[in-house]
Amino acid sequence: MPIVSTFCKKGGVGKTTFIGYLAHYYANQGKTVLVISADDQNSIFKIFGCENFVTANDDDFFENLLIGEKKPEEVVFEVRPGMYLMKTLNTDRLSINLTLKRSEEKKLRALIEDFTNYFDYIFIDFPPSSSRLTEILLDISEKILLVVGLDPLGIDGYKNTIQYFVDCDIEISKISHIIPIGYHPIKITPNKALKDLKILAENYSPDAIIATPIKDKAVIQNLQSEGISVFDNHTMKDKFHQKNLNEISKDLTEVYKSIVL
Ligand SMILES: Nc1ncnc2c1ncn2[C@@H]1O[C@H](COP(=O)(O)OP(=O)(O)OP(=O)(O)O)[C@@H](O)[C@H]1O
Ligand SMILES: [Mg+2]
Repeated sequence: MPIVSTFCKKGGVGKTTFIGYLAHYYANQGKTVLVISADDQNSIFKIFGCENFVTANDDDFFENLLIGEKKPEEVVFEVRPGMYLMKTLNTDRLSINLTLKRSEEKKLRALIEDFTNYFDYIFIDFPPSSSRLTEILLDISEKILLVVGLDPLGIDGYKNTIQYFVDCDIEISKISHIIPIGYHPIKITPNKALKDLKILAENYSPDAIIATPIKDKAVIQNLQSEGISVFDNHTMKDKFHQKNLNEISKDLTEVYKSIVL
């Protein structure tokens, strides 16, 4: 069963949004999906209006599973039918542990591989910072979706990510897709960035398919502040926002259909 990650060394580009909605898209089709938040901000819970799961108890994190304190079913939270999330407590501390103890690293790999028996898809949502945990989880990932913001800093994020893969000896060919985010058909900056990205990608990640760019739509932020997913069948109060919601859910659906995992 596929283990798929969204990654980029640059923060705030849309990694969590993209993988969260991808998971919801599959769950709506009857698949069982787990998203592991390797980011201790656990912001994916907020997107689905389930921040309460993060704060309710302090003994049901991924780390509690790793040290054998909890069973797998006690650290996964169903946030939509068929869609489960797992939270991490402190990725830095976990990272130090993993760096020091080889046996912990093996345990982590075995645990995630065991999850593939229960879920159709396992997705990993990464933080922009890197740690030993990041390296191991990227290594376990079968496919990596590299999310790139369409502006000059976003392009630097692409370059830094490629450099990071080279430095950490992570196979660049694992990047199956590049997901450009923040597109606008007539604005100069995103169009220029997309052109630059295509040239860079041809040279540095030639195996990766560049997905149709995702538009910048403020309606996503409005929905996320209320914990509503674009695939929730939600009705907006006014026509303008409804039109934007329909557009972004249609665009995302097209991109998700094009990404064969
Ligand atoms: N297509 C989009 N249009 C407009 N806003 C978007 C879009 N995708 C994501 N956003 C917004 O961008 C912000 C960052 O998104 P998100 O948290 O998914 O990024 P991230 O890369 O996971 O960030 P971090 O590096 O902190 O984990 C959020 O406010 C989100 O609502
Ligand atoms: Mg994120």
